[in-house]
Amino acid sequence: MNLQFTEEQLMMRDMVRDFAQNEIAPFIERMEEGEFPREILAKMGELGLMGITAPEELGGSNMDFTSYIIAINELSKVSAVVGVILSVHTSVGTNPIIYFGNEEQKQKYVPKLASGEYLGAFCLTEPNAGSDAGSLKSKAIRDGNDYIINGSKVFITNGGEADVYVVFAVTDATKGSRGISAFIVEKDTEGLIIGKNEEKMGLHGSRTVQLTFENMRIPEENLLGKEGEGFKIAMANLDVGRIGIAAQSLGIAEAALEAATNYAKERVQFGKPIAAQQGVGFKLADMATAVEASKLLVYRAANLRSEGKPCGQEASMAKLFASKTAVETAIEAIQVFGGYGYTKDYPVERYFRDAKVTEIYEGTSEIQRLVIGKHMLTD
Ligand code: CAA
Repeated sequence: MNLQFTEEQLMMRDMVRDFAQNEIAPFIERMEEGEFPREILAKMGELGLMGITAPEELGGSNMDFTSYIIAINELSKVSAVVGVILSVHTSVGTNPIIYFGNEEQKQKYVPKLASGEYLGAFCLTEPNAGSDAGSLKSKAIRDGNDYIINGSKVFITNGGEADVYVVFAVTDATKGSRGISAFIVEKDTEGLIIGKNEEKMGLHGSRTVQLTFENMRIPEENLLGKEGEGFKIAMANLDVGRIGIAAQSLGIAEAALEAATNYAKERVQFGKPIAAQQGVGFKLADMATAVEASKLLVYRAANLRSEGKPCGQEASMAKLFASKTAVETAIEAIQVFGGYGYTKDYPVERYFRDAKVTEIYEGTSEIQRLVIGKHMLTD
């Protein structure tokens, strides 16, 4: 396994690192107050980050998958909000159209998504279909050359801000998950109703909304793939999307470790820095080891994907471990900071609030174990 980055990847990493420090860090407070980082995303579009892996002929930067993961990782060290927005936009908002769209759909949507003019979203989860994604109830009924979609979705990241939604709905209720189809829905479509924006524990600058479809008429040209292929489209893109969330988790964990280490070197108690006291030193050692292990899993999965090899199991392992590491490292960082860590004067409490959801979205940790276990039985 080669975990050495290429010259090109290193240049990209440095560019994203500078951008995150100079442009995103000063915006954190506004995001904490709930502002969606529109102007940051516009600048990311100019830098080619919104279409980082999209092919050049569709307006993308045509970079390899590992470069994309490096970008999510670097952005998330500064802002997990910007990390998740880019991850959802790319992995499950744009990629389904690149991989499953026909030529017209690709030409119509991908250049705008890749430039950042459009933002993408992915609409799978419903009030009664979360982990059991195959049991969704939204219905798409054929009516001449259109489909009429009715139903509701919850926890839609980028919802309300996105211009293009990849929507999953049942076209044949007798076929279970083989009766689900995918549709490309534009934001101004009549019948697409943007509902409540959830007030979350963390990721305050991101949007997580409820959507309702009321007799939403979608032309058949916007059916993505064939009828009945929707569940496979969702699963295939989630396989890869999970590496993005794993990279986001890694970024949070690295930020928490760095903050805790710096603080522990400066904070003096009992006549020496707390980092030199074994209770804290061992804590930092365990945190650093878990972060390093996460990094290996994340970039191992990314490299497999870059080489076009199957990576579903490795993606789930990376997400399972890196998300756990993000939560545990953030909690331990708060402990290292003591009373100060529990205040908003330091970023470690934000790292914890932002980390927790990485064990939940794009498949809970329990679902990752289920996926890993299935691969162990069948591969
Ligand atoms: N790739 C392609 N096809 C796949 C697949 C994959 N990874 N996994 C399953 N399939 C196919 C199977 O081959 C099978 O096809 P056939 O019927 O032709 O045999 C079909 O899909 C059904 O497979 P299963 O019986 O294994 O499916 P299941 O109902 O047991 O569910 C599951 C599997 C893994 C639990 C799935 O439901 C799942 O991933 N659940 C979690 C949902 C999830 O991750 N939601 C995240 C929402 S998006 C989000 O969070 C974004 C955000 O905001 C950040």
